[in-house]
Amino acid sequence: MSDCGFVYLVGAGPGDPKLLTLRALEVLQSADVVAHDELVSPAILEFVPAHVERLRVGRRHGSGKAAYRLHPIVLERARAGAVVARLKSGDPLIFGRGGEEAEELADAGIPYEIVPGVSAALGAAAYARIPLTHRNHATRVTFMTGHDAEALEAGSGETVVLFMAAHKLKANLDRLISAGRSPSLPAAYVVSATTTEQRVVVGTLGDLHERIGGIDPAAPALIIVGEVVALGARLAEVGRPSFDPEAAAGES
Ligand SMILES: C[S@@+](CC[C@H](N)C(=O)[O-])C[C@H]1O[C@@H](n2cnc3c(N)ncnc32)[C@H](O)[C@@H]1O
Repeated sequence: MSDCGFVYLVGAGPGDPKLLTLRALEVLQSADVVAHDELVSPAILEFVPAHVERLRVGRRHGSGKAAYRLHPIVLERARAGAVVARLKSGDPLIFGRGGEEAEELADAGIPYEIVPGVSAALGAAAYARIPLTHRNHATRVTFMTGHDAEALEAGSGETVVLFMAAHKLKANLDRLISAGRSPSLPAAYVVSATTTEQRVVVGTLGDLHERIGGIDPAAPALIIVGEVVALGARLAEVGRPSFDPEAAAGES
């Protein structure tokens, strides 16, 4: 352990271990402790050397309100001089509480670094071939959570990516409609993006909730809304998917 503790807030990417950055890999292989969210895929935890202490510290789906921003055990280890990698799904600063955790580290006087990761929004878009800002269809993209959906007024040429919106899917889709969008606007439900479990269900704002029967509502999912979704369905017809489950099975 080093004399002075240090915390890395590290983005693990959306699931496919090949989307982990080289910097994140370097940090995971040199830390004393890896404190990770439940959503971080087991394939990524395999990069952590066996001698490194692993702590599971996250709260899935933001459930439960805790009084702390950064888990107390992370602070405790850092204060004791450990180099801690706080590993978070996607990017730490996109709905990952990385900002709040950085504030707490700054308040505590503990040095830290933020290592960006590929957000699920970007992984899902690429692997489902939905071009978030194709110039003929969308000139802006908004990332938001399901319960904030009504706060965004409809605008033409927009793409909306909803995080944490799977649990109350119909209510979240209805909020977007109430804010002025057409029920016929294309919408996609991308579950377990970039992993071998990925599924993409395409529908409209009005009927997407009826199409996802059988998918585990607890699996991480994003809803992507906008004309680019229809384009994505066309782009997916040809070429090679970003993630080929058969090739991956052959590699293991
Ligand atoms: C607490 S947020 C963390 C977001 C993360 N920081 C990011 O940049 O992707 C968790 C939500 O991200 C989304 N998510 C994370 N990984 C995902 C994946 N592989 N496929 C689809 N959605 C995912 C889901 O909406 C999930 O409820």
